[in-house]
Amino acid sequence: MGTGKRVVTVAAATLGLVFAWQMRDAVRAATPLPAVHSTRQRPDDLELDEVLPGASEPVRRFVAYADLLQLPQVAETVTNDENFTEMNVRTIHVTGIPLSELLHLFGGPGADMVSAVAVDAYSAPYPAEYIAAHHPLLVLKIEGLEPAVWAKQTHNEDPGPYLVTQADFVPSYHVLAHQERAQVPTQVNVLVFAAESEVFGRILPPPQYGPQSPQVQGYLIARQNCIRCHNEGATGGSKAGHSWQTLAHVATRDAATFGRIIVAPRSVNPRAQMPANAQYDAPTLAALTAYFQSIATK
Ligand code: HEC
Repeated sequence: MGTGKRVVTVAAATLGLVFAWQMRDAVRAATPLPAVHSTRQRPDDLELDEVLPGASEPVRRFVAYADLLQLPQVAETVTNDENFTEMNVRTIHVTGIPLSELLHLFGGPGADMVSAVAVDAYSAPYPAEYIAAHHPLLVLKIEGLEPAVWAKQTHNEDPGPYLVTQADFVPSYHVLAHQERAQVPTQVNVLVFAAESEVFGRILPPPQYGPQSPQVQGYLIARQNCIRCHNEGATGGSKAGHSWQTLAHVATRDAATFGRIIVAPRSVNPRAQMPANAQYDAPTLAALTAYFQSIATK
């Protein structure tokens, strides 16, 4: 290719990019964006992190609760969110902003995934597939009240400042004995927007394993379940304080104990905080074990 032609190609690509940005801004202009700040002003500000491809640190912005209320609100009736059924609250009416809308307004180019991070570093993943199937909502009000006010009036634990839920959750797939789980984090104060290929790229099993292999099945379960509390770098929550590689190490060193921890953590450590996965059968545990063994670096 001659130099002249290459210059034209680059110029056309650049114009295309500028055009795409202008289109994006035009779409965004339809909804006035709330004011964003570069630092937290109030405890109930929502932190919005945008992870740009290849960058080590996210761009952090903060939006006030009152300003989020100025965006169009969507109402849902929620009947099977475990946070509320555990409180003996059968049905709740909530209003808030769809995660799809927040991704559209605040996600940068290439961001197709949202993670909702709680104050205790629990992190719920929302890949595009989940958002399309379940329409999760960032809740701003419960029964017309701020979550803290609702909690006080009903003598329940405060699920705020933010929580994510959805109307009647019906699992859209299962892998072995793992049913797709409803991602319903409470006490959320950060949303992270990133590319799914980056987020899940850090925890993929080695490429030689095919779609039906235990390693890939274990991966699909782990990225929905374990990822909420165990992290690999910037991927996942760090609530547990034991990294993805620590899990890989336990799976490699002692597969039997690894399986027992997953099914009944308190049978190994009486003070364990990790939730039990009593529904996981032997093939499911074998898949999780094979996956974590396959990614162990030592
Ligand atoms: C809701 C949070 C949470 C989830 C989800 C979770 N864990 Fe844990 N995990 C913990 C915590 C907290 C600990 C630390 C011990 C304790 O308190 O239970 C832990 C500890 C462990 C340990 C022991 C590590 C060590 O060095 O002793 C293993 C192994 C483990 N988890 C595996 C898993 C696997 C596999 C999954 C997914 C199937 C998973 N965990 C999902 C919270 C979680």
